Amino acid sequence: MSDSLPSLYGGITSRRVTTRDLQDAKDRGERWAMLTSYDMLTAQLFDEVGIPVLLVGDSAGNNVLGYESTVPVTMEDMLPLVRGVARSTQRPLVIADMPFGSYQESPAQALHNAVRFLQVGAQAVKLEGGSHMVPQVQLLTQSGVPVMGHLGLTPQSVNTLGGYKVQGRGEAGDRLVEEALKLEAAGAFALVLEVVPRDLAERVTKELAIPTVGIGAGAATDAQVLVWTDMAGLTPGKGPKFLKKYADLRTILGDAARAYAEDVRTGSYPADEHGYL
Ligand code: KIV
Repeated sequence: MSDSLPSLYGGITSRRVTTRDLQDAKDRGERWAMLTSYDMLTAQLFDEVGIPVLLVGDSAGNNVLGYESTVPVTMEDMLPLVRGVARSTQRPLVIADMPFGSYQESPAQALHNAVRFLQVGAQAVKLEGGSHMVPQVQLLTQSGVPVMGHLGLTPQSVNTLGGYKVQGRGEAGDRLVEEALKLEAAGAFALVLEVVPRDLAERVTKELAIPTVGIGAGAATDAQVLVWTDMAGLTPGKGPKFLKKYADLRTILGDAARAYAEDVRTGSYPADEHGYL
């Protein structure tokens, strides 16, 4: 039995993926997929089909918790979700997304909250931001907490970015490359690039030794990430330009719920076979 990352796609690797595996995959030129997960059933299913990295994203805000953005999400919101995903899986690397306000204040605050995530089962954390997050990334990695960085469209900063739009065009692209290099030097094991021009993502991917994970960043990054509800077509609407929906769960689930309600209304469910003697 091979112990390496690609075999995980065949579902035969018996141990958890590590950040080292992700680095080895980049070094071998092999791409991998990351999905968000916020609960036991999707985490188990994504583990079963061989998704090597699960992000318990703060996108739980708009996918689970009923918020309009990720800004209101708290540690208390995230901890049970991270615990559920971690204890329902055996093989994927589980990354906990640090919510807004849980790490910006100081490196000590970031470490305190990152440790809470690791204590409920995450193997790594993700945080948004560039140069100003270098002290946080340094302290976390030196303290044994692997950190995934996140640049480009950083949704927690929607109020300063002025909306959800493409980042890093023109001179801002050079600044983004510098920020990426600083995060790598600080010890980040990987970097999410969200909604940036394809050429810029390619440049960052070539300049960085660590893996890049794109979302709306073109095909040149080492890995891709999607919010699972978007990927599976459960989220309403067309979604952003970069999204490809791999299923139409919204229709499937809606039809099922409607059919169930109709069966109850007409008395055809439960039938005799669903009852006990
Ligand atoms: O919270 C999230 O889902 C994310 C991904 C989109 C990268 O940060």
